[in-house]
Amino acid sequence: MPAQVVVGTQWGDEGKAKIVDFLAENADAVVRFNGGANAGHTVAVGNEQFIFHLVPSGILRSRAMCILSGGVVVELEQLCAEVAELLERKIVVDENLLISENCHVVMPYHKALDIARNKRADSIGTTARGIGPVYSDKHAYMGIRVGDLLDRKGLLEKIRAALSEKNIVFDQIYHIPPFDPEQVVAELEPYIEKIKPFVANTSLLINKLLDEGKTVLFEGAQGAMLDINHGTYPFVTSSHPIGGGVCVGAGIGPQRIEKILGVVKAYITRVGNGPMPTELEDETGEYLRTKGGEFGATTGRPRRCGWFDCLVAKHAKRLNGLTEIAITKLDVLDELENIKICQAYSYRGETLTELPVQADVLSECEPILTELPGWQEDLSEITSYSDLPEKAKSYVSSLEETVGCPVTFIGVGPKRSQVILAPQPGVGAS
Ligand code: GDP
Ligand code: IMO
Ligand code: MG
Repeated sequence: MPAQVVVGTQWGDEGKAKIVDFLAENADAVVRFNGGANAGHTVAVGNEQFIFHLVPSGILRSRAMCILSGGVVVELEQLCAEVAELLERKIVVDENLLISENCHVVMPYHKALDIARNKRADSIGTTARGIGPVYSDKHAYMGIRVGDLLDRKGLLEKIRAALSEKNIVFDQIYHIPPFDPEQVVAELEPYIEKIKPFVANTSLLINKLLDEGKTVLFEGAQGAMLDINHGTYPFVTSSHPIGGGVCVGAGIGPQRIEKILGVVKAYITRVGNGPMPTELEDETGEYLRTKGGEFGATTGRPRRCGWFDCLVAKHAKRLNGLTEIAITKLDVLDELENIKICQAYSYRGETLTELPVQADVLSECEPILTELPGWQEDLSEITSYSDLPEKAKSYVSSLEETVGCPVTFIGVGPKRSQVILAPQPGVGAS
């Protein structure tokens, strides 16, 4: 199975990294194709926990090359800090890490702008990692790419040009001190030297690996509902966290992709602002947040929690062309007497069964909920599908039917070992 994709189907934090780490055992390469350090990807192995923001989640598997392809935006200081931490923890990081020369670099002024905008009353509540500003510069042809870092004179010119506009905005709109181009270059200097050995033409390499029949796993960041085109705009991120984003970001043809696995949390969460019809602002929401440890892996912000939303899942299935799903965090529902799922919305007296694309419409939608019985048993030690309680199997089957593609993995705890392989071709058929 040469090109496999793992994507988030909700508003991010579905547990993608855990699935990527699991699949990476048999992968020759793990490739990030979108986003940047806004991602917070957690892998728990035994009693150790790793949180990756930029380094692909396959790095714990020594066989896999880990690649930041051109669609990723890279914050040098963060990347170097992650590499340093991994080395300290005795994880091998040298020739197994590559960074595309096409990656745009998150500059200190991008982060400053993101932080300043987050203070506005109408802020969407970003991760403050400079993501919107760096992708804006990329599309306005004033970005700095990893390849540009190697020519210091050209780099200074490019930064000077970018700052000639931005410093006016900093001064006159946000009242923060301007950036000095020379100082920006000087501060980047130590990191440039550190990342230099990792820089490569990654599109060429990824295509070569695929030509050789090697298994390449593409690791999505964020989730379909945060897609800049198809998410709840403007409460989205600036990249394409969906299957199509792989081709654009990594530089491969669509026909290469054979499997697109959507990671589906057994309920739903969201960090930041924007509509979320099934949000629970009651004790059940609090239960999900506490039991599920729903606090942002990047910002530590409490995640908003709610019931599973079938309209969101179907939207993600369509956008991605999902071929299978992994259901994570089923164990978090263990103690609930009843579990609800949303199969339609009520909007101004009308019943909607497909997700409306406009955020203002979505914000007026009320969920129409169906209740399923909870299993009220501890799933965390279960390793085989057949040992799941019947009520848990029914819940899984309901999600499978809704999304319309087979479930291949079920997560029953954060650890690498807490994954149940579902019987093929999907539990509904078993
Ligand atoms: P990602 O951004 O999609 O990779 O997900 P995050 O790492 O931001 O958040 C997922 C959280 O859930 C992490 O703390 C994981 O350790 C944890 N997790 C993943 N799968 C499971 C699961 O099946 N059960 C439980 N209880 N926790 C899980
Ligand atoms: P992973 O890969 C959850 C959200 C932010 C905000 C919006 C825009 O861990 O699933 P940005 O900083 O990207 O400009 O913020 O997107 N967001 C995420 N939410 N998981 C993520 O990544 C996210 N990355 C961005 O909270 O609402
Ligand atoms: Mg996350």
